Amino acid sequence: MRRRVRKAIFPVGGLGTRFLPATKALPKEMLPVVDKPLIQYAVEEAREAGIEELIFVTGRGKSAIEDHFDHSFELQETLAARGKEKELALVQELIPRPGRIAYTRQLEPLGLGHAVWCARSLVGEEPFAVLLADDLVLADRPCLAQMMDLYAEHGGNLVAVMDVPRDQTDRYGILDVVHDDGKVAQAKGLVEKPKPDVAPSTLSIIGRYILHPLGFEELDRQEKGAGGEIQLTDAMARTIDRIPFHGMRFEGTRFDCGSKAGFLEANVAFALAREDLRADAEDILKRFAPG
Ligand code: UTP
Repeated sequence: MRRRVRKAIFPVGGLGTRFLPATKALPKEMLPVVDKPLIQYAVEEAREAGIEELIFVTGRGKSAIEDHFDHSFELQETLAARGKEKELALVQELIPRPGRIAYTRQLEPLGLGHAVWCARSLVGEEPFAVLLADDLVLADRPCLAQMMDLYAEHGGNLVAVMDVPRDQTDRYGILDVVHDDGKVAQAKGLVEKPKPDVAPSTLSIIGRYILHPLGFEELDRQEKGAGGEIQLTDAMARTIDRIPFHGMRFEGTRFDCGSKAGFLEANVAFALAREDLRADAEDILKRFAPG
């Protein structure tokens, strides 16, 4: 029987240079979309997919993330004393059960593959999920939960994918596809950030993965790939003859919140999707962008 996916890694060790100066002292993953930090959306998505253990791979200047998922006694007491039950529930609900959250430091931001590798002893010999908080997905059924359904069928390595314009392939990990039924694509190879003229397809990986632990062995080699970084895609590509690799076209809209335009777009879309904010958001859009 296939082992259940119980653990999720949240790599939050990057420098977030595209968002400076906002990210000088504030982790990129703490930037809020409407009123919730990106990392909280990712944690909630993981929980809704049945994940029980949260593993954060952090770096210097990321302590705000640890504080966010911890008690804040002064705040909680003040909210309780003022009878602000709703707000109190909001800050208490997000705190994981003791022992279900772990932090490890990446020490140096050497790439996503390296960040994932740093969590190897916390994961052990079982399949695990990886969620990149700066890829935010607006969906009726959360993206990782959609993947869990499919993982039960296929096992191996499974990633969420989407079709991108050919001139953008050099921003993504791209699948070399053998079979594609329009929903699920099986790959025989993967290329990190290929130039549009050599990209094997336009099917690109977004920041949601369910991975086989054998990938850690490949990451042990610490080989640098595109951009001089240790790439997760390279490790998955090197196990593709032993571990089946599938890409799932998810249902929903993905926002690249690591870029300014994507972050702005996410704020507009999430506000419009919220009952309590929709009318205000529409009014703002009309005023600032009439017609
Ligand atoms: P990005 O490349 O989008 O993030 O990595 P970055 O490097 O922080 O951002 P820029 O390009 O400088 O603006 C995607 C995710 O992987 C994590 C990041 O924190 C982000 O959540 N990451 C990236 C690590 O944890 N470690 C790394 O070495 C690189």
